[in-house]
Amino acid sequence: MTARRYFIETWGCQMNELDSQRMAGQLMAQGILPTRDPQEADVILLNSCSIRDKAQQKVYSRIGEYRLFKGERPQLRIGLCGCVAQQEGQRALDVVPDLDFVLGPARVGELREVLSRRDAGERVLATGFPEVRPFDLDAIARDGSHKGMVTIIEGCNKRCTFCIVPTTRGAERSRSLREIVKEVRHLLDYGFVEIELLGQTVNHWRDPIENLDFADLLAVVAPMAGLKRLRFVTSYPRDFTPRMIEQVALHSNICPYLHLPVQSGSNSVLRRMGRGYTHEEYRALVAALRAARADLAISTDLIVGFPGETEAEFQDTLQLVEDMNFTALYAFKYSPRPGTAAPRLPDAVDDVTASRRLQILLDFQNVIQRRLNEDLVGREYEVLVTGAGRQTGTLAGRTPCHRIVHFNGEPSMYPAGSLVQVRVDRALTHSLLASSLSA
Ligand code: 5AD
Repeated sequence: MTARRYFIETWGCQMNELDSQRMAGQLMAQGILPTRDPQEADVILLNSCSIRDKAQQKVYSRIGEYRLFKGERPQLRIGLCGCVAQQEGQRALDVVPDLDFVLGPARVGELREVLSRRDAGERVLATGFPEVRPFDLDAIARDGSHKGMVTIIEGCNKRCTFCIVPTTRGAERSRSLREIVKEVRHLLDYGFVEIELLGQTVNHWRDPIENLDFADLLAVVAPMAGLKRLRFVTSYPRDFTPRMIEQVALHSNICPYLHLPVQSGSNSVLRRMGRGYTHEEYRALVAALRAARADLAISTDLIVGFPGETEAEFQDTLQLVEDMNFTALYAFKYSPRPGTAAPRLPDAVDDVTASRRLQILLDFQNVIQRRLNEDLVGREYEVLVTGAGRQTGTLAGRTPCHRIVHFNGEPSMYPAGSLVQVRVDRALTHSLLASSLSA
């Protein structure tokens, strides 16, 4: 008998990546094995993202492609998972007759049960935010042997006027320090050297019982034996406290890299976005972080074409980008999302203007980024190998400051998860080329 196979396609954030690992784990525990070929699959899961309209469009067009496989494989099950599942719910089942089930992000732990309900004939709608959410630590297919992801806080209580996350991921829920430490320990025992703590507002974590915050969590987790690199995404600027900055300064295994979305460099736009800080406050935070950790690399997210954004407000964003020396920048055209407040704001920016601003911003950042990377030529880094490079005889990895490095070496010598000393030879805009110094 040939084994049943699954295929999972994942879009969006690290939370989705981890949710896909959790779903894969549940399938493997049932003896359903992975395949790279969706045409060969018995279960296809589309783990979707709804942060911008484009992402949502993509998942629907993909379902349209996969449902054709049912002609050859009538037993095929197709599930819409992730944030579009939560957002669309019953509508997705109504619109796509071949869709077998809809599984929201807060119900990932119920995949097995949902599949058996489907086998019994029901087209299952599993969305919403139940109080009790099964989480099986041992049924997670942790792919990649270097980075273990641990969710510490789910959902979001902020009300940024552009953002759909509070609707799709629900209200904030922190896991207890005890549970988090247990999971990190488990991953370190398995040989993971890098731990990535996850949360939509990761630094807003609070222990649900004791009076502990994210600084206390870092103080407990960072010294754990075997932990070479500790990272966390995504930090909310306003939630950073001096005690947290102290912890970042104190533990050398906390990577000198932070993703700190600013969204705009204009105070009036920030106010309309409901971000709760000014660009001056953001600058002061970055200065404090860099004073605590001189080698700290910071990346950010920016939205252009937010309703009412004037040319002058856009210039304020360029000014901030010029001053901040971000090591990476993720910029997006504003996309109106259902159930959010921003679409009701006056003076929508037309698409031509938004596209032009996006291009200006990206070109502007590329020059900065190239210069920052060129300053690193000749420097030596310990690189964590993440896999084979694009060309044979090369490997890819990450510096502690999270830059992508390509260097000479064989996967047989340095499997993913190895730490290799390299020297930077050349700088590109988005990566570094280096030579291995290890024998
Ligand atoms: N339109 C465009 N970009 C958005 N983001 C979130 N919501 C929207 C939206 N409606 C961006 C923000 C966020 C990143 C994950 O996606 O910059 O930080």
